[in-house]
Amino acid sequence: RGPEGLVPDLAGRRIVISAGGTREPLDPVRYLGNRSTGLQGYALARTAVARGARVTLIAANTALPDPAGADVVRVQTAVQLREAVLKAAGEADVVVMAAAVADFRPAVYATGKIKKRDGREPDAVALVRNPDILAEVSAERARPGQLVVGFAAETDDVLANGRAKLARKGCDLLVVNEVGEDKTFGSAQNEAVVLGADGSEHPVPYGPKEALADTVWDLVTARLD
Ligand code: CTP
Ligand code: CA
Repeated sequence: RGPEGLVPDLAGRRIVISAGGTREPLDPVRYLGNRSTGLQGYALARTAVARGARVTLIAANTALPDPAGADVVRVQTAVQLREAVLKAAGEADVVVMAAAVADFRPAVYATGKIKKRDGREPDAVALVRNPDILAEVSAERARPGQLVVGFAAETDDVLANGRAKLARKGCDLLVVNEVGEDKTFGSAQNEAVVLGADGSEHPVPYGPKEALADTVWDLVTARLD
């Protein structure tokens, strides 16, 4: 047992966790972003360290202190996040994509600040698709038996959307939570259902993000060989 009376059931396991939200720059002073704070990903990192894992935390634009005992890699854009995740995934037993990755980025980056021009309507912002990191990691499996966990925030038909997303992404577990104006983002609490590729469905009651993180690790340890 470890210092907190925990069984170090992730001892020796290498775990990669992405957290936070990507920012996609328009010009040197502006970006497209999202409301993710990184709290759930950091809770995953802290609890994994407490259970003995060697954790690489890939943090996209978070304003949180580095979790003790984790290696932290800081990134901004989806393309940078992809590079960092793929690099770290090569050695990992588990990859958890808790980051909110922008689906699109501006097609053009203006190297100078975009100025408004008197009497003229603004230009529309053209967007292009970002790579789907979770789908790529799931398809590639850098190591045999590597487990891949995704997260999904949904607003309607939460379970049906989650099931379809799990199949589309090809991951082993998908943590699905319902979001709304005042739900999930920036909150220390979370409520979710963890769906398994084996058809399992594991509800996690409303509670601290650490509790959800520990449930994820319970489900992961049960699936690691
Ligand atoms: N994800 C990713 N790369 C992307 C988009 C999402 O790796 N370009 C990951 C997220 O980190 C998360 C999971 O995929 O673990 C689900 O993200 P979500 O936005 O719910 O999925 P999408 O396929 O983008 O579907 P939607 O159209 O509902 O946004
Ligand atoms: Ca998305």
